[in-house]
Amino acid sequence: MKSAPLVPLIQADDPETAVATAQALVAGGLTVLEVVLRTDSALACVNEIATQVPDAIVGAGTVLSAEHARDSLDSGAQFIVSPGLYQPVVEAAQQSGVPIFPGVATASEVQTAWNLGLRTLKFFPAGQAGGVPMLKALASVFRDIQFMPTGGVSADNLADYLALHAVIACGGSWLTPAAAIADGDFDTVTRLAEEACEIARQIRG
Ligand code: 3PG
Repeated sequence: MKSAPLVPLIQADDPETAVATAQALVAGGLTVLEVVLRTDSALACVNEIATQVPDAIVGAGTVLSAEHARDSLDSGAQFIVSPGLYQPVVEAAQQSGVPIFPGVATASEVQTAWNLGLRTLKFFPAGQAGGVPMLKALASVFRDIQFMPTGGVSADNLADYLALHAVIACGGSWLTPAAAIADGDFDTVTRLAEEACEIARQIRG
């Protein structure tokens, strides 16, 4: 995440499309990829990317239960992301020694996560939960927490989030538009990845 502070979401109905999307993102400079468990073939997509796209670091997102977490890890997921904070998911990942980024949106959730030993958290849904001002407020209190805002992030507001030192990376689906992927237009995915990398370079050097 420090080399490219962006985590695109991949929501694919079949492994071939997932692999093509992952390859397009890697070609655009993004290597940390989150496959969301929102389709029947999501675990197969994780597995195919893990085996076919060696330059990618693939994780599973929308992980709601410890069983989901274990299945994701069995499929080759290298990190776990959840929309919320649920201790069994955190523990399943920690027992496997795999990074877990649970979603938080309040000070209480950040504090709970901190006490579970976590220092890198997803801030979700970032836009609706208060965006940059909320992140500044949380970061001023939780000095050793790094956040991955996700939800409503786009090329238009990416620079504002990345300007915050407490932001390790931004996640989002704007890098993988469903219409372009349905059309097989993977050049658009690569172009969006390159555009986001350029914004990140301008902010982070
Ligand atoms: C998520 O899965 O984290 C969110 O649905 C992403 O939100 P976005 O579609 O606004 O990027």
